[in-house]
Amino acid sequence: MKNFLSVNEVSNIDSLIADALAYKADPFKDSALGNRKRLGMLFLNPSMRTRISTQIAAKNLGMDPIVFNVGQDGWTLEFEDEAIMSGNTVEHVKEAAPVLGKYFDILGVRTFPSLQNKADDYSELYIHQFIKYAGVPILSLESATLHPLQSLTDLITISENWNPSPLFRRRAGGEVKPKIVLTWAPHVKALPQCVANSFSQWVTAWGQADFVITHPEDYELDEKFTKGATITHNQDEALQRADFVYVKNWSTYKDYGKIYCNDPEWMLTTEKLAVTNNAKIMHCLPVRRNVELSDEILDGPNSIVTQQAGNRVWAAQAVLAELLKSEQ
Ligand code: CP
Repeated sequence: MKNFLSVNEVSNIDSLIADALAYKADPFKDSALGNRKRLGMLFLNPSMRTRISTQIAAKNLGMDPIVFNVGQDGWTLEFEDEAIMSGNTVEHVKEAAPVLGKYFDILGVRTFPSLQNKADDYSELYIHQFIKYAGVPILSLESATLHPLQSLTDLITISENWNPSPLFRRRAGGEVKPKIVLTWAPHVKALPQCVANSFSQWVTAWGQADFVITHPEDYELDEKFTKGATITHNQDEALQRADFVYVKNWSTYKDYGKIYCNDPEWMLTTEKLAVTNNAKIMHCLPVRRNVELSDEILDGPNSIVTQQAGNRVWAAQAVLAELLKSEQ
């Protein structure tokens, strides 16, 4: 693995999940792998989980992580080629990236989309400029359209929690796939499509689930990420016999970055979950309580959101280990 931007860099998803779970069982088993290696972590946007879990993962591997908040701690970066830098940007990525490439062995980058211009956001200009100019492996800490460390975490968490009874397996005639539902939820702000895009991309590439996406009209995601999923505007129908329900808001993709519907009826309730197979509830966090997800669900026995967030460490550790091994 030279860079980690999406599931497309992963040759074997199951093997990466197994690596992550092995690190969870024994966090320091490869504590010499990253000796004398530095991980730079550039944040152009806020973060709690990604920032902390990736630092812990790096330290578990013996790496030295250094966090840098672009724009707050340093100069505002320009990413456009041939830009006339007479505005607010002070340093071009053409200088910043190769300098950082001299300081670090691996460079993690978090960017968000503008939600103003779909073509710009979906070109992933920022992260591609770092790949072009840094000269070291680039680790996405979330980009304009995808959040691969989150999605790997999500599949690790599903794997841990998917445990159908032997009777159920026998009745199904052997291995059975979980039914995973990604449901849109209301929110007060226009949010990126990254988590939903990335989750869809990973679940469909994994191919080991019946995958349903449900959202109100006009919230269709980019088809390149959802190909292979069943898509419905009927949330009640989607929830039938679900084993996992992943809750997430996103803004519109087609008429880009808008909030069309914000119907509170789309927020999950315990009553709605009655038709599921005692489904586990997931969310990438942070979550707006009683807007995206109700207290009763977040505080209830089926919520695995904090287990999921805890698994961010093991996903990051498995990916960093792959990147380090590729450089040996
Ligand atoms: N889920 C996630 O990426 O959380 P942070 O924004 O806190 O990193």
